[in-house]
Amino acid sequence: MSPIDVPGAESLLRQAIQARDPAYAPYSGFSVGAALLDTSGSVHTGCNVENVSFGLTVCAERTAIFKAVSQGIRDFRAIAVVGPDDRAACAPCGSCRQVLAEFAPELAVVTPDGAGGIRIWSLTELLPAAFDRTDLRAGRPS
Ligand code: THU
Repeated sequence: MSPIDVPGAESLLRQAIQARDPAYAPYSGFSVGAALLDTSGSVHTGCNVENVSFGLTVCAERTAIFKAVSQGIRDFRAIAVVGPDDRAACAPCGSCRQVLAEFAPELAVVTPDGAGGIRIWSLTELLPAAFDRTDLRAGRPS
């Protein structure tokens, strides 16, 4: 039992596994799927989309959240993330943590635990002291 409880976490992880199918990862060979649960219970999925100019690659998590936000959804409860191996842990990269924190600093992050179960993190645990609006205000010249 994880310290953070996400009802339906296993189902969310299964949806992340399905969302991985269309991943476009010809350069890394590392396909990722994400399933983002909003506060109304709908799920927004994403996969990674790579580019021959490697830095233009978009991760699965950002695909999912940008899809949702572009449809007017901004409130989220949890995101499940899975890499090529259904059982291996795959925590979001630093850039995705910052983008997720913009809309859902309290988000629960569901990943496989590497042993056939799931692990649930809090985003604040994965990205403590995120850059936020307070920093933006404080850092402006007066
Ligand atoms: N990737 C994701 O989609 N999400 C992450 O959080 C980590 C990395 C993708 C980017 C790239 O296409 C591949 O995995 C290898 O880094």
